Amino acid sequence: MLAGDFGPGVRKAMEIIVALGRIYDAQRLVPVGSAQVAGVSYRNLGEAGLEFLREWAGQSARVRVPTTLNPAGMDLHAWRELGFSKSFARRQEAVIEAYRRLGVRTTCTCTPYLVGNVPRLGEHVAWAESSAVSYANSVLGARTNREGGPSALAAGITGRTAAYGLHLDENRRATLRVVVRCPVRTLSDFGALGYLVGQAARNRVPLFVNPVNLVGLEGACSGGSALFFLRALGASMAASGAVALYHVEGVTPEAGRTDVLASDHETLVVEDLQPAYDALNSDAHKNGNGNGNGNGNGIDLVWFGCPHASLEEMAEVVRLLNGRRVKAALWITTAREVREQAEAEGLVAAVEASGGRVVADMCVVVAPMQELGFRTLATPSAKGATYVPSHAGLQVRYGTVEQCVRAAVTGLWLG
Ligand code: F3S
Repeated sequence: MLAGDFGPGVRKAMEIIVALGRIYDAQRLVPVGSAQVAGVSYRNLGEAGLEFLREWAGQSARVRVPTTLNPAGMDLHAWRELGFSKSFARRQEAVIEAYRRLGVRTTCTCTPYLVGNVPRLGEHVAWAESSAVSYANSVLGARTNREGGPSALAAGITGRTAAYGLHLDENRRATLRVVVRCPVRTLSDFGALGYLVGQAARNRVPLFVNPVNLVGLEGACSGGSALFFLRALGASMAASGAVALYHVEGVTPEAGRTDVLASDHETLVVEDLQPAYDALNSDAHKNGNGNGNGNGNGIDLVWFGCPHASLEEMAEVVRLLNGRRVKAALWITTAREVREQAEAEGLVAAVEASGGRVVADMCVVVAPMQELGFRTLATPSAKGATYVPSHAGLQVRYGTVEQCVRAAVTGLWLG
């Protein structure tokens, strides 16, 4: 591949893999079972990124392992109804087309594991998108570094990655022991805990010991609603820090290793989640500079589905709405395939009957949200609340799913 026997596009991909291997002193390459590629929203890529992809696709490069795609900057079907401009839509479609030519499955989601890209325990993969990386490593026990967009695509094209970082046993041991002394009960509690631990951990590997206060986590890795808690925890630690792998005693698959805790680990004790709730609510908003509607508590948009929502999460929002109409916009972002299942199960109709939307393919953080006129957003996602102010330019309110549904119905953040 490096010699160019498979064409210039494959050579370029292998050059990226080899360069990374040299930087990180990798001793070998490992085959990867799948890739998850970031760098999809035209808002982030711009013309230079689009040209880069087109050139690669024009060099006859094709992925050789199943490769899925991160969220785009708009719903690829309903962009017009949602208010995205035609000029943005055309460029976004061109990005998707370039990926399609590269052989990438163009379902645009940060939860590829909900739509069939599910790595096995111990399998090497090359994933970008921090919450998906965290889920693959921690909950599924697969092995991936936090790839960038080009390196994940290069791994998809070559079917290989360099064996360094989290591909190696020794780097998967915990270096931060976490003791939680306060109860952690709700989705937003898990996000708040993740926010605090991620800040302290940076890129270390946390191990949550004796997790009796992590209420409802039992059996999480075998499915059920507790999986959302793990997703929220991992996504949040990946956003406030750069945590790509964590373990929870008695819950996640590698926590039972006898050598899971490195001898030179440090210990973090979490006594109170309130500092995270305070930090995740935008300052300007708290001071009453709301959305210009004369009330500092005004909410324009309530966002569920960060990471992309599962059917169970949608059903929970529908249950809490209980048929009431919303005053603020309510969006549930999800994968296209999950939206289709939700449509079949009547969940989309139920959300729409309340005036909300189930939006596919996209992520609010990478979308041109200000162009749509939104200024204030409420979400139960700590990752969303971390990124929305800086990336999407909106002020944020962070709280429980119940608080967010109430905000949607009233148009106000009532705390
Ligand atoms: Fe997914 Fe966007 Fe949240 S990529 S995890 S919906 S910030």
